[in-house]
Amino acid sequence: MKLYATITVVLLVLGVHAGNGGKRQLPALGRPMREAFYMDPDFVQLNHGAYGTYPKVVGDALREYQQRSERNPDLWLRRDAKTELAKVRQMLADLVNADSADVVMVPNTTGGINAVFRSLVFAAGERILHLSSIYNSMGSIIQYLVDYSNGSLSKLVFDVTYPMSNEDFLLAFETFLNQTEDPAHPIRIALIDHITSVPSIVNPIERIIPMLKQRNISVLIDGAHAIGQVPINITALQPDYYVTNCHKWLYAARGCALLYVDKKYQGEVHPAQINSGYSQPANFQNEFFWTGTMDYSSYMTVPTALQFRREAGGEDVIMKYNHDLAYNGGRRMAELFGTSIMQDEEQIGSMVDVRLPVNNPDDSKLDGEWWIDEQLYRHPNTFSSVYKHNGSWWVRVSAQIYNDLSDFELSAQHFLDICNELNMNDQTTTTSTTTTSASTTTDNSNSASSNVIM
Ligand SMILES: *[C@@H]1O[C@H](CO)[C@@H](O)[C@H](O)[C@H]1NC(C)=O
Ligand SMILES: *[C@@H]1O[C@H](CO)[C@@H](O)[C@H](O)[C@H]1NC(C)=O
Ligand SMILES: *[C@@H]1O[C@H](CO)[C@@H](O)[C@H](O)[C@H]1NC(C)=O
Ligand SMILES: *[C@@H]1O[C@H](CO)[C@@H](O)[C@H](O)[C@H]1NC(C)=O
Ligand SMILES: *[C@@H]1O[C@H](CO)[C@@H](O)[C@H](O)[C@H]1NC(C)=O
Ligand SMILES: *[C@@H]1O[C@H](CO)[C@@H](O)[C@H](O)[C@H]1NC(C)=O
Repeated sequence: MKLYATITVVLLVLGVHAGNGGKRQLPALGRPMREAFYMDPDFVQLNHGAYGTYPKVVGDALREYQQRSERNPDLWLRRDAKTELAKVRQMLADLVNADSADVVMVPNTTGGINAVFRSLVFAAGERILHLSSIYNSMGSIIQYLVDYSNGSLSKLVFDVTYPMSNEDFLLAFETFLNQTEDPAHPIRIALIDHITSVPSIVNPIERIIPMLKQRNISVLIDGAHAIGQVPINITALQPDYYVTNCHKWLYAARGCALLYVDKKYQGEVHPAQINSGYSQPANFQNEFFWTGTMDYSSYMTVPTALQFRREAGGEDVIMKYNHDLAYNGGRRMAELFGTSIMQDEEQIGSMVDVRLPVNNPDDSKLDGEWWIDEQLYRHPNTFSSVYKHNGSWWVRVSAQIYNDLSDFELSAQHFLDICNELNMNDQTTTTSTTTTSASTTTDNSNSASSNVIM
């Protein structure tokens, strides 16, 4: 069966390469779609959100562009790369409903956010606002600015603890903005995640952005997880700055992100590493086009990634499949654990956070690399990120077009095995709840995960 599927895919791919012009027929969404990606056959990928992964056709395009640049490096770097890049920017601008003159490519969101923050000239006493759920790299950038400001810049952090509905968030956030208002210390800029990394929450940025802009606070949206996971409409949202990784949910090759800057700020934004294109005011497109001698091929995989997405059913079909799977899969896991998921449905894109059945969340074993070791080396057939939030342990699970519900059940079994072992070793707490939930899953037990003994 598997061999047959492989042969079919090989033939289909060959068919396209032979230039038959016909529409490539991709495998169906769900497990069959794994054939279109590179994952090991016995590995169940449920952590797409961390690094992304791309389909084989994107891998082919990547290598093709790498070779093309070597055939005649001058022709490529002096002329053709610029033309190709303009096409990439146009396609992405169309997808997010922005003017292509307002977007540039950067290797990653961290680079884009460094560019924005490090271009700002702060006045003494100003503050930077962010949520406590900020991604650690972005938190580091803000901390760096504060540390090197000689005491003239400070940060303001809005603490979030989930579960919390979007309505509760908005009310608490507005109250916080009212209470912290201080004309002597204006908030110059706020960094808000479109979708936070952990916990993975789709924030109501369409309501957060106007709330901030009304208060004369610039808004930088960290959309690291957004493009390809949720629709983005820059014209409707009107952020001042927006950065998103194309190598996570959009299926481009790694090292590919989009930076949008409102026209009124483009003259002030330079790449974090200044290059020969530097000018005052900034020539936005020119400065970001050539940021040094690097391989730009990952940017060039965007057209192939978008073509693949159209053939897989299009943006709406992919997003709906992944959303429904995250929501249903997360609830299935919670049912097997005897716990709950963190999000309301509207807070879910393609990732879901499920509370793990850990009896003693403060067990010292859980600090450090223990979880990673267990998952990668002792139970190595699937992986998802675990983290502690407000005193409980959670797992963030990604849904992708190559997954189906059985993958979530396998992951649940994997975590039950790990948690049961942990709970059994933990003499100080009762194990009754977990034992009950574990016994309900016997029918779904997957031998692969329990056979691994090292
Ligand atoms: C992210 O991009 C910046 C440039 O924008 C680059 O300096 C940095 O090395 C990149 N980081 C990674 C992990 O690729
Ligand atoms: C740093 O701040 C101190 C105290 O306000 C001030 O005396 C000093 O001149 C500042 N240094 C620089 C380099 O601005
Ligand atoms: C966070 O934990 C505290 C202490 O266990 C609890 O009282 C509170 O309800 C939790 N918050 C949320 C949002 O669950
Ligand atoms: C915040 O302040 C504004 C202006 O004073 C007021 O209209 C609004 O109701 C306040 N919001 C909250 C949640 O307190
Ligand atoms: C709005 O913020 C800018 C700095 O970002 C400042 O120059 C300007 O004076 C502020 N406007 C008001 C009305 O506070
Ligand atoms: C994006 O927003 C604009 C402005 O609100 C609207 O006219 C347009 O129809 C929206 N596009 C999509 C695809 O929703």
